[in-house]
Amino acid sequence: MSTSHEPTPGMEKHPLFHPPEETLRNAHVQDYVKVYQESIDDPAGFWGRIATELEWFTPWTSVLDWDPQTYTGRWFPGGTTNISHNALDRHVAKGYGNKVALIWSGDSGEERVITYSQLLDSVERLCHGLHSLGLEKGDRVSIFLPPTPEQVISMLACARMGLIHSVVFSGFSEAALKSRMEDAQPKLLITADAGFRRGKEIPLLQTARAARTGILSIRNTLVVRRKDPRFPVDASSGEKAFDELLEKNRKKGSFPPAPMGADDPLFILYTSGTTGKPKGIVHVQPGYMVGTYLTTRWVFDIRDSDVYFCVADPGWITGHSYIVYGPLLNRTTVLMAEGAPDWPDPGRWWKLIEKYRVTVFYSTPTAVRLQMRHGEKWPSGHDLSSLRLLGSVGEPINPEAWMWFRNVTGGRLPIMDTWWQTETGMHMITPLPATPLVPGSATKPFPGVEVDIVDKNGNPVPDGESGLVVIKKPWPAMFRTVFKDPDRYRQYWTEIPGMYFSGDSARRDSSGFYHLIGRIDDVIKVAGHRLGTAEVESALVSHPAVAEAAVIGKPDSLKGESLKAFVILRQGKKPETEEELSSLRKDIRHHVREELGAIAQPDEIEITDWLPKTRSGKIMRRVLRARELGLPEGDTSTLED
Ligand code: PRX
Repeated sequence: MSTSHEPTPGMEKHPLFHPPEETLRNAHVQDYVKVYQESIDDPAGFWGRIATELEWFTPWTSVLDWDPQTYTGRWFPGGTTNISHNALDRHVAKGYGNKVALIWSGDSGEERVITYSQLLDSVERLCHGLHSLGLEKGDRVSIFLPPTPEQVISMLACARMGLIHSVVFSGFSEAALKSRMEDAQPKLLITADAGFRRGKEIPLLQTARAARTGILSIRNTLVVRRKDPRFPVDASSGEKAFDELLEKNRKKGSFPPAPMGADDPLFILYTSGTTGKPKGIVHVQPGYMVGTYLTTRWVFDIRDSDVYFCVADPGWITGHSYIVYGPLLNRTTVLMAEGAPDWPDPGRWWKLIEKYRVTVFYSTPTAVRLQMRHGEKWPSGHDLSSLRLLGSVGEPINPEAWMWFRNVTGGRLPIMDTWWQTETGMHMITPLPATPLVPGSATKPFPGVEVDIVDKNGNPVPDGESGLVVIKKPWPAMFRTVFKDPDRYRQYWTEIPGMYFSGDSARRDSSGFYHLIGRIDDVIKVAGHRLGTAEVESALVSHPAVAEAAVIGKPDSLKGESLKAFVILRQGKKPETEEELSSLRKDIRHHVREELGAIAQPDEIEITDWLPKTRSGKIMRRVLRARELGLPEGDTSTLED
């Protein structure tokens, strides 16, 4: 076996890196090829064995009940369990109550440390409180909180009671929160008096109050007093203080977890698609639990001594699966950081790694490239020797960033480049610590997951050629449906009949390594955030000066992709001077920020008189993009003129 620095000769264009001896010795999966083959030969046996590592209230009658008519995968039917029981009670009962579950580092350096017993206690008290507010299994709860322990407590309390949480990223605007709540129809909204980023206060409650007006399903708002412990909540509109509710239920004792079966939802998480309206991706408890438990365990090789740091926000799927559920199911100590990676200085994360002796660091390509810009002096100023494994997620990581990440952390650590989606719930194409690595490749499918690269008719494309990424068999953490929109769910399985189509393109090399290229639909990944072009366009055309708009993604050396908007102005709205033009552009950007949130603001706005359209009036973004980037325009036979 070669050492970690030695590339294997003759491997495509890329060097192949092998894991350090220590990683190999301890890896949960030593022989990927064998484990993968077994998992594919007998998926029910494979997933069934894994599921028995968790606790069930009633055993399942079969592992999978797959309906090819509706594409519904019912995992572990007949069985009941509860993900909060498995993430908390199971560990406490085994004597791990004093183990640290969460270390929280606030925006301005505050610290909170919470053990498994304390976390369970808070969750149970909140359950008593939610019960007293009349919430029942199946009710929806919208959570609009900054990344704080209360966010985790709220999610777990919902899971325990069988309430369906819908976490909304705290950087979203009032309109974005409102539209998600209009769809989810929650009975309760949980928010905070304020959030903090780069030392600046974010008025979350103000946004939440405005967003909830007119949504009659909401009976109460629970307010976490993050900024001011004496903040006066408005009881007349059903507001209650989170801490008071917990205090009131201090002595109530345990709260029994609800038995959750194969059809019982855990959460709805809204994500962007190809239409203007975000889709509510629904995940159910048993399958999601098994999928996130195993992927966390195997991909990050979790052991009891780990301190695990994932930089995502629980407002996104990465935070759901790999800050909250997967790590806690594995009894991991999770470090969670509020705020920005480069505030108060670019050493923030490296300092946290040193301070808490972090062993597993799960980051994103955009964050790595940002750190690259700040330079090596920041990581090299810290003792990072505790690290043993790195991770990357959310967008393709370019080989240069991959190599930099590896080099500044000691030059020997394996990087788990994990490809997956809100819909998949769990890692799908990813290395395991013992597998050889190629920079910029997510390597191979996770055991139990069958991936292929096909053309639009579903025929496999030859290795080396790019094609569409499909999943050929159901997997445990698969989403169950799109909330209130079964047709949209069906589309995932019918575009390429009988297979789940991810919307991504990739190529597989002659060694079976997958190289993800990007989305082929009208979804753009800006700094790893998923944005629908249609969503941004509808925000643009709601500006009073804008008649029509088209949005494309452009390659960006920091964010992976940036947003460029082409805008046709309404008659009489054309600016006369450069100054007016610049102020109009600013105003349009501000408008999109108000409509959707800061992440959706276009980086560039070009005022134009013409947009390429098909004869039926559909904007051909592909043509715009090709022109912008100087690429061949492809088939333009349907172009209007
Ligand atoms: O295009 C792929 C990209 O992110 C999309 C899924 O976005 P979202 O649902 O927001 O989930 C992000 C966190 C899993 C995918 O369709 N993507 C995600 N991970 C990778 C990636 N692209 C390349 N490499 C990855 N490791």
